[in-house]
Parts: sequence; structure tokens; C-alpha cells
Amino acid sequence: MRQINIAILGCGVVGSGVAKLLIEKQQLLESRIGVSLNLKYVADLDTKTDRGIKFKDGVFISDANKAINDPDVDIVVELIGGKTIAKDFIVKALQNAKHVVTANKALIASYGNTIVKTAIENGVDFAFEASVGGCMPVIKSIRESLVANHINSITGILNGTCNYILTKISQEGCPFDLALKEAQNRGYAEADPFLDVEGHDSAHKLAILTAIAYGMEINIEDIHVEGISKITPMDIEFAKEFGYAIKLLAISKNCLDKGSVEARVHPTMIPIALPLAHVNGSMNAVTINADATGETMLYGAGAGMMPTASAVLSDIADIARNIMAVDIADTKSAVMSENRINMASNISGRTRVPILGFQAKNIRKIPILPITDISTCYYIRLAAEDHPGVLSKITGILGSRGISIQSVHQKGRRENGPVPVVMITHRAIEKDVQLALKEIASLDAIPEMPVVIRIEDY
Ligand code: HSE
Repeated sequence: MRQINIAILGCGVVGSGVAKLLIEKQQLLESRIGVSLNLKYVADLDTKTDRGIKFKDGVFISDANKAINDPDVDIVVELIGGKTIAKDFIVKALQNAKHVVTANKALIASYGNTIVKTAIENGVDFAFEASVGGCMPVIKSIRESLVANHINSITGILNGTCNYILTKISQEGCPFDLALKEAQNRGYAEADPFLDVEGHDSAHKLAILTAIAYGMEINIEDIHVEGISKITPMDIEFAKEFGYAIKLLAISKNCLDKGSVEARVHPTMIPIALPLAHVNGSMNAVTINADATGETMLYGAGAGMMPTASAVLSDIADIARNIMAVDIADTKSAVMSENRINMASNISGRTRVPILGFQAKNIRKIPILPITDISTCYYIRLAAEDHPGVLSKITGILGSRGISIQSVHQKGRRENGPVPVVMITHRAIEKDVQLALKEIASLDAIPEMPVVIRIEDY
């Protein structure tokens, strides 16, 4: 049986999971793929800590370069994380004509375009299913299953840590810091949890999905990002009263008829009746709206050792099948030896599915709509002095900017001091809302900056 040699770089949580699957599921993998996946190296600076895995002699090494430079290695799996050493190893491996698999969403979001170019130039594959949504096959679904669709929108809960925190606050009244600590203890959070809590991890994932959905270059810089650190239990309770749940959503919309796309990450109120509102704990989910299929929803574990390792294995299996297909083509025809050289310089010959879902020549730079230009409904919470005429001033300012109010609730009554006033607007342009709120905040009767949460009421 044909043997494909694999080197894993980084034996942390996910690296150990991938090694375990390769060893423990060897028979299943062989019977499904038709090749033997041989774990040739696992490279990690720390070879002393017990990972609970019995490696064959010479497999567990400290020098990643040994694996990258070994001509027998077919696939390098980068699971070190970060954007420095990991990037160098990936680029070197691609230049050495090795296929590369990674789960490193931060790296792809920042350097994906150049890494993809390097892979294409070297006629090898670069695969990253595990970078978005853990075990949910969202990249495969968009690139392959929905190949005949124009994607209208993608709406996802893509960060398990934030979803866990919001669920704990909403269902148990758990304090934010305690919920974060629990998420960290469960191994969901990034090494730097700021990336989770402030929405950047979701943005990295959204940058990847947006690129493969619309045939555009990966663009992280222009994605608007807000995290959940300013969400209060009070807003979660008010949201429930209005029939909404608050989720950190990654939203991408096709506005190609106007020459742009939307891509934004922020806490969002969604109707409690929506399936996404019931995605709780560390679970992830994504809804893909496409022209032929309508709405498709994926739901699954977005983080954790084995779910993420499972996604890495799906990439390894795809690449192994591609290698087999090229081998078969080579043996079928003597003429193929000539063609094979041609194919090596042409990604669509070497890899069945283009890395970013579209043929490289069709990938464009498409602008992301500035957040000020989006149009949606808004939840606005003000602390307002409870005096006659205050509400009419507020509604007057909103009205003068063309912002129509759907409902207003004053919560409680106080002779001295502010009371919460909560409003839901009809659809409005973000820049009008921002200008109106600035004006409202300057009123004497408004002692604090208003809180705003966008509503997606599909
Ligand atoms: N920190 C990420 C999360 C891990 O919480 O979802 C998976 O990418």
C-alpha cells in the first residue's frame, strides 16, 4: 500500500490530538483513504513532557527543520500557532514542495495571500479546514458542496470562548471573569484570550470565510471588530425582554451588485426564535445563505483537542487522495511525465480544489463596506435623567437624522438620578446613528455614553 509520510510541527493540544488520531485510527483511515498515513515526525521544542502517546523510535524530535528538509515527508502539519516561527516553517515546507496543513487562522488572516501564492508556485496544496469552526466542515462546504452557488451571506458563531462566556452570563448570571477563566480551563481560549474576548479570533475566521465565499483576497484589515467585554448582564436581560439573545456574530454579506462585501464581527441581538440563538456553551454554528440552496446551517464543536484534530485529518485525507490521483495519472500514461511537470506549476492540476475556492486568476480585491455605511436595526440603552421633556429631546435628535423608533421602554422611575431608557430602532444607516448618539450624549440629561448593540432581525 502506498505510504504518505506526515510530519507534525507542534505537539500541544491539537498536535497531540492529530498524532493520536493518526496512530489510533490508522486502520480506519487506511480503509477509507486507500493509503497508509505514516506519522514520520512530531517536532516540538519540548520532547520531555508526556503527551500520553507512544511514539515509534525517532518520531518525536526537537528539530522541526529535520522534518521540513526530509525528502520523504509528503505533508507538513503546522500546529505551533503564532505568526513568526510558524510562518517561516510553512513557507520553507512549501518551498521544499511539501503539502502543508494548518489550523493557524491568525497566520492565514495576516499572510494567507502570500502563503497561497507560494503554494501555487511550488505546485503543492495548502489546507486549513481546522482554522474555522473546529470540526464543522465549513470550508469544505463553501468550496466544494456549494460550488454551484453564489453565496449571499454567512452568519456565524465562530468563537467558543465568547459563546461560552455569554451563555454563562445569560443562563447562570456568572460574572464575566469567572466565565472566561472556566473557558480557559476547558482549553477553548487562545494563548492570549484578548483575541477571543475582543472579537479578533472571530475576525480571523471571518476573513478566511469571506475570501472563499466571494472569490476575493483575504482581507483582515478592513473587517470591523468589536468584542464582548462591554456587554453587561443588564443588556442581556433587556435583550430577553425584547425577545432577543445576544451573540458574538461574524457576519459577511454579498453586496457585489454595489461592488463590495460586508464583513463585521460584533455582539448582535438576534430573535430568540432563530436556531443561532440556541447555540450555547462553547459550540459554534454557521448559517450560509446561498442562491440555489437557500439556508444551510452547520453546528459543532468549535474548539478542543479531538474536534480540531478531526478537521486537520480531513485535510490530510484530501491531500493524500490528491497525491494518489496524481500517482494514478502518472502511471496511466507515459506522456504524463511531461504533463506532470506542467501540472506541478498549475494548482488546479495538482490539487483538486483551488486553495481559496476559486481559480487563482479569478480572485479579486473586493472592498469591504465601511461599518459606517451598513444599515441595520439598533438597540440603544441610555442612562437618562427622569425629567419631563428629556425623551422628546432624544427622539427629536433621532428623528432629525431619519432614525425611526420601533419601541421605547423606560425602566423604573427616579426623582434624582438617571434611569435606563431602552430603544429599538427600525433599520437605519450606522453613520446617522453614530452622529445622533454623539449629539444625545452631549445633552445635560444624559450622564453616560449610550450603549448600542446592532440587531440582525432576519
Ligand atoms: N479560541 C478559539 C475559540 C479556539 O474559543 O473558539 C478555536 O479556534
